[in-house]
Amino acid sequence: MKILIIGSRGQLGSDLMRTKPLHNKIDIVSINRSQLDLSDTARIYPLLIEQSFDVLINCAAYNRVDDAESNVHEAYLVNAYAVREFARVCEKQKHIFIHISSDYVFSGNKSTPYIEADLPIPLSVYGTSKALGEVFALEYSENIILRTASLFGIAGSRGKGGNFVASIINKTKEKKPIEVVNDITMSPTSTKDLAQWIWIILENKIQPGMYNAVNTGHATWFNFAQEIISHIKSDANLSVVTSTTYPHKAIRPRYSVLDNAKLTAQIGSIRSWQEALTDYLQEKRYRT
Ligand SMILES: NC(=O)c1ccc[n+]([C@@H]2O[C@H](COP(=O)([O-])OP(=O)(O)OC[C@H]3O[C@@H](n4cnc5c(N)ncnc54)[C@H](OP(=O)(O)O)[C@@H]3O)[C@@H](O)[C@H]2O)c1
Repeated sequence: MKILIIGSRGQLGSDLMRTKPLHNKIDIVSINRSQLDLSDTARIYPLLIEQSFDVLINCAAYNRVDDAESNVHEAYLVNAYAVREFARVCEKQKHIFIHISSDYVFSGNKSTPYIEADLPIPLSVYGTSKALGEVFALEYSENIILRTASLFGIAGSRGKGGNFVASIINKTKEKKPIEVVNDITMSPTSTKDLAQWIWIILENKIQPGMYNAVNTGHATWFNFAQEIISHIKSDANLSVVTSTTYPHKAIRPRYSVLDNAKLTAQIGSIRSWQEALTDYLQEKRYRT
């Protein structure tokens, strides 16, 4: 099976590359930004239709959520119109298409975990562009869309320049008080785990469609920071703030916990974010 990864140098893309199952006959090829800028919509179909592959996994995104409020054009091109081109190519060639979406497609007005059938009502340009990408990907019934959230991975997000876990650890080293919001609740998720679920999805040939793909459990950003600090046995001075203390350009959903029961039914149990965090921190310590 030949897999084409778009965005292979990103946080999720690099974990897909390094978790490739050894026992399977899987070849990975990738196309990066220097070969194909996804904002150049007209180039995507002609370039990809010439490539030989069986599965396309799109890990690329314009994911600087606040910048997207002013770079609307680029966010839509990369997060939505590029996805439409991937879907067209995959439909034409009968390839499997796996696309990654986001919890930011939701408004956050619920107080129980979002299921796949809940209506996306995004609050930001990033969320709207990702929601439109989902619509394009869903136009072809054989596609798989994985909605994920609050990612942490060894490589750190290329777009955002790191991840929350690394940022909290860096702040503990500065020995200054750390303020973290406690009024936003989400599903922290490991990109190593997400990558492994993708390999299982391909192996198990699961039903196409939309799946929430997050580690089990939920946390506020404050809870998440507390868990990180407790793991690294730091005596950092952590305090609670509300999201109004440091307003962002883009509005975030207050509650975007995703229910992963549908995916669990297909691939088996999914470990908690706390277990995934322990794994990440052990690996990170090993590597530094
Ligand atoms: N990070 C999160 O917390 C989070 C939360 C929910 C959903 N997601 C979704 O999860 C997926 C993976 O996120 P991630 O954290 O792994 O992202 P990432 O580390 O920022 O990687 C994004 C990748 O997209 C590529 N890219 C961006 N703009 C491009 C363009 N115009 N042309 C070609 N390539 C372009 C980047 O290329 P370069 O390597 O050249 O920079 C990079 O490899 C994305 O779909 C994202 O929307 C992420």
